[in-house]
Amino acid sequence: MSEYAALAHLLKRRVGLDLSAYRPEQMERRLAGALQRMGLRSVEELVARARQDPAVLEELVDRLTINVSEFFRNPELFQILQGRVLPELQQRFGSLRVWSAGCSNGAEAYSVAMLLAEVDPHGAWSVLGTDIDRQVLAQAEAARYREEDVRHVSPARRGRFLLREGDFWRVQPSLTSRVRFRRHDLLREPFGGPWHLILCRNVVIYFTEDAKRTLYRRFAESLQAGGYLFVGAAEQVTGAREVGLEPVYPFFYRKVEAKAWTAAQTNW
Ligand SMILES: C[S@@+](CC[C@H](N)C(=O)[O-])C[C@H]1O[C@@H](n2cnc3c(N)ncnc32)[C@H](O)[C@@H]1O
Repeated sequence: MSEYAALAHLLKRRVGLDLSAYRPEQMERRLAGALQRMGLRSVEELVARARQDPAVLEELVDRLTINVSEFFRNPELFQILQGRVLPELQQRFGSLRVWSAGCSNGAEAYSVAMLLAEVDPHGAWSVLGTDIDRQVLAQAEAARYREEDVRHVSPARRGRFLLREGDFWRVQPSLTSRVRFRRHDLLREPFGGPWHLILCRNVVIYFTEDAKRTLYRRFAESLQAGGYLFVGAAEQVTGAREVGLEPVYPFFYRKVEAKAWTAAQTNW
């Protein structure tokens, strides 16, 4: 077995990260960077260390996944979400169930929560943020952000939803009480649902074409008919109609037909 294959095997068995679904050129570049920053000379040395100390693998997952995020990333698309998509969904379904898949530090989940609080102030809406990386989830739960993370949050929204704490901004309990986070691997675990809105943005760029196709089919299956999938500003769902998704606005797809719902998918 090559060193890389040994590492892939270990990662899959111990922390459930499936390297084969990620584009190899991306992974190799990230792996080289991770080794350097962890002070290791080779994949062999990494495998030897990881066999003795499982924390090494968690650190590696953190370094292999790219966690860049901010509030209202691509503000013009969040305007479509605010002005078109959420009012349509709220009118049709009432209290919305929203999933931020690959949520990183939670900025995306709290951004939608701000919009939901505005569009449906008394409703029982909820947001779930999931990510494979425990370190970013800990940041999401801490709900504490730097100035540059909140640069697209308007003064009015800062006043209503954030609290200044020295150099940081903390999300107010009125939002944190409605947003939950949990670790979840999009490549291996059930999707729950049915969801009215799924955001999966800037996550699949590192996945192989096969993994992407499977993922989009599974997103479509776990959406409520009439619900929306919101993807990243550099992404498109190829073959959207084949999985029952119609493009409605740039980077927003609506589920067109009801699909059979199975008990196996509803364990959240
Ligand atoms: C660049 S961030 C995107 C954050 C946010 N969605 C946004 O657009 O600002 C990509 C996130 O995907 C997560 N990720 C990568 N592979 C994943 C997987 N298999 N399952 C769940 N999350 C994954 C990474 O840990 C990372 O936090």
